Amino acid sequence: MMNSNQSATLQVAGSGANHAPENTERNGAGPAMVLRGLHKTFEAQVVLNGVDLTVGSGETLAVLGRSGTGKSVLLKLIVGLQKPDSGSILIHGQEITNSNLEAVNEIRKTIGFLFQNAALYDSLTVEENVAFPLRRHTKMSASERADRVKELLAGVGMENELNKMPTELSGGMQKRVGLARALALEPGILLLDEPTAGLDPITSREIDELILKLQEERDVASIVVTHDLHSAKTIADRIVLLHEGNAVIEGTFEELERSDDKFVAEFFKRDS
Ligand SMILES: Nc1ncnc2c1ncn2[C@@H]1O[C@H](COP(=O)(O)OP(=O)(O)O)[C@@H](O)[C@H]1O
Ligand SMILES: [Mg+2]
Repeated sequence: MMNSNQSATLQVAGSGANHAPENTERNGAGPAMVLRGLHKTFEAQVVLNGVDLTVGSGETLAVLGRSGTGKSVLLKLIVGLQKPDSGSILIHGQEITNSNLEAVNEIRKTIGFLFQNAALYDSLTVEENVAFPLRRHTKMSASERADRVKELLAGVGMENELNKMPTELSGGMQKRVGLARALALEPGILLLDEPTAGLDPITSREIDELILKLQEERDVASIVVTHDLHSAKTIADRIVLLHEGNAVIEGTFEELERSDDKFVAEFFKRDS
């Protein structure tokens, strides 16, 4: 994780918001993700209206915003599941918006994605769910795969549930398995869509702890979409608020908490 001193200073909409922090680089590597001027419209509905974001190598960015502001869409654009109408998405310096499918698939392997509802394959066991990306993208033997799956599930405290079906798991357990699957190919980038939504506070804190542990052990660059201010405070180096199609404000949790910007103040009061 980045030291919060390295993070962006608070920037308010209309006064130069959305610019990358100066120091998002680490160990000489460029930023993990650079998004520029992203636009996405569905029919007549403008969802993203020129979003700019940078996530440094090893940095965790939390994206906050009301329901329907395009947070999930943003993640889907980054992972190439949807295409922006215009704008640029650089993943470790490589532009993905105009890359061919093959190139996008290669980049996709470097990105672990936890969907908003975990999106496990219902007809596959826990073990088979986590093995899926390994089966598809590696040449591991069955026994190597089995070992790796056990290791991944142990990392999220689910090593004793190998043969369960997703419907037999609680919401928190499904998210743990989703996280193990997202980590299967050792991604350098992790995109987590509402990892604690719908979970009780204790399970939410356990998921936060898990994410922190992963960050420490693996030094991945992450975007975590969340409604959960406690979670954002715990896991994020920097927070961005999405509002009406734009990243309207960014800073550390403490900076946003102190902000007298009306929208930010309301957001923090309402959700905390
Ligand atoms: N595939 C789609 N087709 C049409 N509209 C969509 C699609 N995906 C998302 N939207 C719309 O885009 C808006 C933002 O959605 P979403 O990113 O899921 O919001 P959230 O910030 O809650 O994650 C919503 O109004 C949603 O209905
Ligand atoms: Mg969403």
